[in-house]
Amino acid sequence: MISKKMEDAFNKQINEELYSAYLYQSLSAFATRIGLEGFANWFQIQVQEEISHSQKFYSFISERGGKIKFLQINEPPAEFGSPLELFELTLEHEQHITKCINNLMNLAVDEKDHASQIFLQWYITEQVEEENNVKTILDKLKLVGKEGHGLFMIDKDLSTRVFTPPA
Ligand SMILES: [Fe+2]
Ligand SMILES: [Fe+2]
Repeated sequence: MISKKMEDAFNKQINEELYSAYLYQSLSAFATRIGLEGFANWFQIQVQEEISHSQKFYSFISERGGKIKFLQINEPPAEFGSPLELFELTLEHEQHITKCINNLMNLAVDEKDHASQIFLQWYITEQVEEENNVKTILDKLKLVGKEGHGLFMIDKDLSTRVFTPPA
């Protein structure tokens, strides 16, 4: 059985993951609008990943006999800046999520909830990967600057991303 404190915190995290999906869906729509189809694809895959992250929390709460409670999802922005700024925002957001996951782990330790600690390890590893992926793209974008050809190449690169469901 999961503690009420842990259950509340996990329900809040479902909301964080779903907001992430909302935010990336909005970024995908914006990228399409400015003609960056590869960027749009990358963010669309990100949407699927975030939904799968929320689903993992959902299953875990259920398996531990907890109660699922869906909270209101905030409205994401609809307007964004330059291609570089899209990924700066993404990195900032992922860093925020990393903090959330770390706080969940701290709580699981405080609560002496070993099952939650093992469960959260997956997310800790995932966040390292998430931040690193975004940083790699950000570095490339910084490298090409405002150069059109470089941006075109990056967009082409981002168009190849496919969704792999988490294990
Ligand atoms: Fe996530
Ligand atoms: Fe993420």
